[in-house]
Amino acid sequence: MLRKADYSAAVFVAAALGLFFLGGLLTTVAPPLIDKSWSKPFDNDDPNKGVTGKLQPYTEQQLKGRAIYVREGCWYCHTQQTRTLLADTKRSGWRGVDAPISTPDEFVYDTPHLFGTKRTGPDLSRVGGKYDEQWHIAHFRNPRDLVPGSIMPPYPWIAGNEQEVQALIAYLQTLGRAKNWRPDNDYEK
Ligand code: HEC
Repeated sequence: MLRKADYSAAVFVAAALGLFFLGGLLTTVAPPLIDKSWSKPFDNDDPNKGVTGKLQPYTEQQLKGRAIYVREGCWYCHTQQTRTLLADTKRSGWRGVDAPISTPDEFVYDTPHLFGTKRTGPDLSRVGGKYDEQWHIAHFRNPRDLVPGSIMPPYPWIAGNEQEVQALIAYLQTLGRAKNWRPDNDYEK
């Protein structure tokens, strides 16, 4: 069989496709079957420690904000996934505390998911609670007022629309909150 693959294009192609298919099954279909926790919402509730952090479904307002995020193409430039790399956990960290890596149970209410693939701007998976409302509004009006040299486009039509800007900020403030990992006193309103 192996020798045949050396000499026969048909066997080679069939073997390559077979292995590719197997790889796909093992990396996409098998993991959630083995670890069922993936499809359950992240739950950090521990009354003994006074910790609450169960992932909540989006409210209507947050869903509206999410739709604006999709409509405006924020996901062209921003990812929503803290990978297992130091560069990610440190970049999304807060006051010396590294951000936890993203896990599937944080995204069970995200359909479609907005993981994104391109980081023209920073990852937003842990941005909830990092800035207050005023910061976001000023940043949407003109990012360069706050971050000199920023290449994020201004969104005056969002900043000037009270309902839309509130919805979008409500959505952004949920990102990465379930894990409740920040030390106290963050800027969530
Ligand atoms: C053309 C690419 C691009 C698009 C599109 C874009 N951004 Fe950005 N964004 C950036 C860049 C670059 C930065 C970093 C500089 C800055 O903070 O302005 C950034 C920063 C941010 C930050 C601060 C992140 C942090 O950790 O400091 C937030 C929040 C944000 N963007 C939200 C949005 C939202 C919401 C949208 C859609 C309405 C959007 N961005 C669209 C490029 C983009």
